[in-house]
Amino acid sequence: MSKLNFYKVLEAELKRVDEAKVAKRQEKVIEKFNDDFFPKAVINGREYAIFNSNDYLGLRFFEELRSGEAEAAGKYGTGPGAVRFISGTMKVYKDLEKKVAGFHYREEAMVFSSAFAANLAVIACLSKGQSKDSLLSGQTLIVSDELNHRSIIDGVRVAGLAKEQKLIYKHLDYASLEQVLEENLGKFKRVLVVTDGIFSMLGEYADVGRLEKICRQFNGRFEEGVFLIVDDSHGVGACGESGRGCEELTGGKADILVGTFGKAFGSDGGYAVGNKILIDYLREAAATYIYSNSISPGVAGAALAAVRLVDSAKGKKLLRQLEENISLFKKLMKKYGFTMAADSVHPIQPVLIADPFKTKALTDKLFAKGYLVTNINYPVVPKGKDEIRVQISAAQSREDIEKFAREAAAARES
Ligand SMILES: Cc1ncc(COP(=O)(O)O)c(C=O)c1O
Repeated sequence: MSKLNFYKVLEAELKRVDEAKVAKRQEKVIEKFNDDFFPKAVINGREYAIFNSNDYLGLRFFEELRSGEAEAAGKYGTGPGAVRFISGTMKVYKDLEKKVAGFHYREEAMVFSSAFAANLAVIACLSKGQSKDSLLSGQTLIVSDELNHRSIIDGVRVAGLAKEQKLIYKHLDYASLEQVLEENLGKFKRVLVVTDGIFSMLGEYADVGRLEKICRQFNGRFEEGVFLIVDDSHGVGACGESGRGCEELTGGKADILVGTFGKAFGSDGGYAVGNKILIDYLREAAATYIYSNSISPGVAGAALAAVRLVDSAKGKKLLRQLEENISLFKKLMKKYGFTMAADSVHPIQPVLIADPFKTKALTDKLFAKGYLVTNINYPVVPKGKDEIRVQISAAQSREDIEKFAREAAAARES
């Protein structure tokens, strides 16, 4: 009887989620993709143009990535076999780490199964030692932007610090950060300042240059210093002159930069880059690395091909195409009378509707016209910022974008 009671609780919880209209489990099933260059998702036999993917350069269908994946899988098999320190690390992981460290001008890189796993590890491990014999004290203060990604929030939870050791500053408000640091002088040994690079809901970006300066100013005032951790999962490969994300946009450098291969790099898995001592320590301490498999060798091969490609003349050309597409989209949407929620320089282009019902209605109409976009409402964004989140890609043509903007304007009037 007791399990049946629990199932009733689960049923009630599912009903609550459904009634709140926040259910996510009815996922659209993509049967296949049509076309090579700007692939259309085929759902129930009908084609949909994709305006909500994180694959900002369209790389997931590129031949370089497919053959990188096939070559690595051919050499090393389809699965990792074991975690890396147990059964030996395959060279493709080392090659990928070397390439991504160099791409971000860092000494070392470490590949994780996802950026989520990387954030859990980085934040928890630098907060206090993860084994009972560790020499690290837990006298850490974490100061986090109030709108940081869930993986950062969970990293702070996993760190298991006391309430007064987990503080937030107002979103993108660096005077508020300075005030928190000032108020906590002398109370903790070290500080971790943590932020998203690109904020994925509204496309705004952290000023890494300014953050680096603030951390440097306060560094000498805490016994073990002030560290800046930036998760630029959406920014890398999608913005900055050469695709190096928010650091490049704002001229700053984090102590640890977290990224993903699962968005603009068109493959999968996450990573952290930093100096040798930090990465050496993470390899000894990170539970999501020590007790959890890496990505498969094939995926590592695809990711390696992706970083090489972004770092080449072809990558620069794709980035210029992406920039052109973003400015064309913004120009056309403004011409048709839409309000853009933030003046984003990133392929995340939020169209502000400011009403949850109108947002949902327009998203549904666009779906009926053959477009995939994302409906985002409070509490995911602040009240009044209900938006249709459109994501631009270098794979879209001028005609694709013109047609989308025309159709969106017509759908709004219908
Ligand atoms: C800022 C940020 N960090 C981490 C992630 C998770 O990345 P991954 O899918 O590699 O775990 C996301 C994706 O939603 C993100 O937006």
